[in-house]
Amino acid sequence: MPLHGPTLRTAPRRSRGAVLLAAGAAATAALLGASSVPATAAPTTATAGRNGASAPAAPDISVANVKAHLNQLQSIANANGGNRAHGRSGYKASLDYVKGKLDAAGFTTSVQQFTSSGATGYNLVADWPGGDPNHVIFAGAHLDSVGRGPGINDNGSGTAGILEVALTVAKQGYKPDKHLRFAWWGAEELGLVGSQNYVRQLPAAERGKIDAYLNFDMIGSPNPGYFVYDDDPQLEGVFKDFFATRKIPTEIETEGDGRSDHAPFKNAGVRVGGLFSGADYTKTAAQAQKWGGTAGQAFDRCYHQSCDTIANIDDTALDNNSDAIAYGLWTLSGGSTTPPSGGKVFESTTTVDIPDAGPAVDSPLTVSGLTGNAPSALKVGVDIKHSYRGDLVIDLVGPSGRTYRLKSSSANDSGADVVATYTVDASSETANGVWKLRVQDVAAQDDGYVAGWKLTF
Ligand code: TRP
Ligand code: ZN
Ligand code: CA
Repeated sequence: MPLHGPTLRTAPRRSRGAVLLAAGAAATAALLGASSVPATAAPTTATAGRNGASAPAAPDISVANVKAHLNQLQSIANANGGNRAHGRSGYKASLDYVKGKLDAAGFTTSVQQFTSSGATGYNLVADWPGGDPNHVIFAGAHLDSVGRGPGINDNGSGTAGILEVALTVAKQGYKPDKHLRFAWWGAEELGLVGSQNYVRQLPAAERGKIDAYLNFDMIGSPNPGYFVYDDDPQLEGVFKDFFATRKIPTEIETEGDGRSDHAPFKNAGVRVGGLFSGADYTKTAAQAQKWGGTAGQAFDRCYHQSCDTIANIDDTALDNNSDAIAYGLWTLSGGSTTPPSGGKVFESTTTVDIPDAGPAVDSPLTVSGLTGNAPSALKVGVDIKHSYRGDLVIDLVGPSGRTYRLKSSSANDSGADVVATYTVDASSETANGVWKLRVQDVAAQDDGYVAGWKLTF
């Protein structure tokens, strides 16, 4: 059945010859250039790292996603007596939420149990498979709240920040040179109990493999400061570099040295670093001058109070600090983002006619010289000349024969041409082989041709 009849037409029908003539000039012009497909998609490219080495650009972490995790933690507190404290049901529910996300993303998780104040506590440890096991870059945050409130800034913020960074590692298929480990600590509020337990049970040889432990406890304070731990000059320098690129001044963290989960690592001889946006200390006039906010008021007036809710978060601080975590991990771990071949382009510039209301036509493209599977974000650039693109159904056909729908037909889309870049999860296909762009014109009156298409691996 045709998707639209002649009476629905708004665009005047052009003759096939006119279409070819008009579009042919454009296609010829494009063929003279490097590519027949205009650069519509921003390419993801590696940039030089801070030491001049080729390192992949650290991703921009979605603060919306971080906030979504915080909203979940708030809901968990609401459903469990208003808190997520050690030994209470809201703690285990928080752990299950974080663990579920990590397991689904491909992390290897483990839960470590301990007893404190007569209640069972839990640490959650998540390893990203791969990287040099003798060089571990480790990020941690405490997952428990105090009993008096939901603990959304303290420390839902660090919890959600490192969770979203971990999920971004997975989403990007990041392949770090060093091994990445993340942990969410229990019973920090009872005196760093979970992290102390972890470090105590860790064999000395394993401690020696940790190149850096980075701690994130309170990174979204409502009247924020930007504090960097100064325990290790190199780790301090990495974070300072990041904030310098954003023109955000920083200060050294002094609000109670050793008051969080980095202390047990530091005491065991591990190099530590971290970020902090302030707790119950008062913001000075000079600090309000450089960071904004309110002088004479605590960085977090709801610190350890029932009002440490989802309303107790400064989104900008949360955003900047989440991006800083990603920058720190990417910078310290080296590595590359899949695919290793990074942006290899295969292109067809063969013209293939698309018959009006006819059978599907294929434009084949042979890919060779790659290894392994295609990426989970394969870019498919399409350049089709057509006088009524709503007629067109477009699929990518992988070497396995499996098809991936790029575009459906639409009776209402009367625009001409399809010039677009689609992203396809092609990770179940081998990269090498014959790929096809399959195009069918499903409604009568207008036609066109494939001018070219390309795959970016
Ligand atoms: N860890 C403290 C808590 O959870 C908060 C805190 C106070 C803090 N001072 C700090 C965290 C300095 C990191 C650095 O209650
Ligand atoms: Zn606390
Ligand atoms: Ca048609």
